[in-house]
Amino acid sequence: MQEAEIGLIGLGVMGSNLALNIAENGYRIAVWNRTGSKTQDFAAGAGDLADRIVPCETLEELVASIRRPRPIIIMVQAGAPVDEQIAALRPLLSADDIMIDAGNANFRDTMRRFRELDGSGLTFIGMGVSGGEEGARHGPSIMVGGAQSSWLRVRDVLTAISAKYKDEPCVAWLGSDGAGHFVKTIHNGIEYADMQMIAEIYGILRDGVGLGSVEMARLFETWNEGKLDSYLIEITAKVLAATDPATGAPVVDVILDRAGQKGTGRWSVIEAQMMGVPATAIEAAVAARSLSALKAEREAAEAIYQDGPVRFGKEQAREVVDDLEAALFAGKIAAYAQGFAVMEAASKEFAWGLPMATIARIWRAGCIIRSQFLDTIAEAFEDGPVTNLLTAPRFVDLMKEAVPALRRTVARCAEAGIPAPALSSALAYFDTYRQARGSANLVQAQRDFFGAHGFERIDAEGHHHGPWGGGG
Ligand code: 6PG
Repeated sequence: MQEAEIGLIGLGVMGSNLALNIAENGYRIAVWNRTGSKTQDFAAGAGDLADRIVPCETLEELVASIRRPRPIIIMVQAGAPVDEQIAALRPLLSADDIMIDAGNANFRDTMRRFRELDGSGLTFIGMGVSGGEEGARHGPSIMVGGAQSSWLRVRDVLTAISAKYKDEPCVAWLGSDGAGHFVKTIHNGIEYADMQMIAEIYGILRDGVGLGSVEMARLFETWNEGKLDSYLIEITAKVLAATDPATGAPVVDVILDRAGQKGTGRWSVIEAQMMGVPATAIEAAVAARSLSALKAEREAAEAIYQDGPVRFGKEQAREVVDDLEAALFAGKIAAYAQGFAVMEAASKEFAWGLPMATIARIWRAGCIIRSQFLDTIAEAFEDGPVTNLLTAPRFVDLMKEAVPALRRTVARCAEAGIPAPALSSALAYFDTYRQARGSANLVQAQRDFFGAHGFERIDAEGHHHGPWGGGG
């Protein structure tokens, strides 16, 4: 029997779509799933691609079906299942075989797995894959971490299956060990911020302006033609336009306002905090999901306070709506600036040398945060060294133009009692970042007063203490 060129373990939604994508690109792929019936069903449903799919009943059969050195994609639930799969595979593999974890792993687990495989002769790749079901089937964005030599061995197949932005493949090797999974984590952190800011705009339109879902859908469609052009804006328009077959109401109106989260957003915030990098819009987005989960508490609090959001008057409502596109754009720039700053810090901390322009380029298609805007980010990094995207020449004028709308929007939300945590955090980040003399001098004085922590002076070198006379 003709040997397969690659293997895949785990035929869930992402795994089966990735396998079909690989087969469609001309590769013979051996597949195995813990529940055997799933493997058979998958092969039976593969249609024209079935002759390139080798369904295997056991892990041994999977390994034996693949040409050496074997690349094997593991697409199982992140966490312990990945360790179990590696443990089961290890004794069956030979030197130079490559295990590729394509799930949403915590990059610290990926780093540990690299260490555990060190000296075994086996090779590992931690690979971030974005794009959901559709992306996996027709072209995801792929973020690869591991040895460059491993990447070179799987480059062709990954390039073939990746999304293309104007013919450029959205896949790249980003650095050693955990680099790929780290970048995917930050991608998701940005995804959280993007989604949250869009949801806040929706909240303003619903509670402050009183717009119906269909009217909102039209607005989002229009925005998708301009500088906000992106997958998330596009699907928001579609989501808002959809009707619930059971009730005839807009689908969004029958969905409970309690958002799920599987961990990547939270990890991006934890990692940012560990490195001391402010990522306020991402933090606010993660916190907003956690707050959304407190449904019963929120209901009780509403009953206590009763004064919900105030509806804007007709005249003001028009001004509010006119500002939203630019407000969202400014918030988005700040959120992306934060995400890239976190990656910059991690790149140094873990000695990855993350290629920022490349990251922006491979996010332009295939992934959930894909947009035109990422092209501008790529160009900003190609222009020269970037300290923070907020001060990159390409973004300064964009920000100057858009910030007033964000400021007015956040102010109106505060007045009307409409929550806009990510947009306001983005604005606060901008205002703090662009202020040469902030208020931390007072914090330093307080720290010195109660704990003799000392402070730096503006007019002399060294470590100083204040004239507190004994402290607190
Ligand atoms: C992607 C998505 C995908 C998934 C995340 C987010 O890039 O394709 O980010 O990985 O949707 O797991 O999940 P949560 O919102 O459940 O955390």
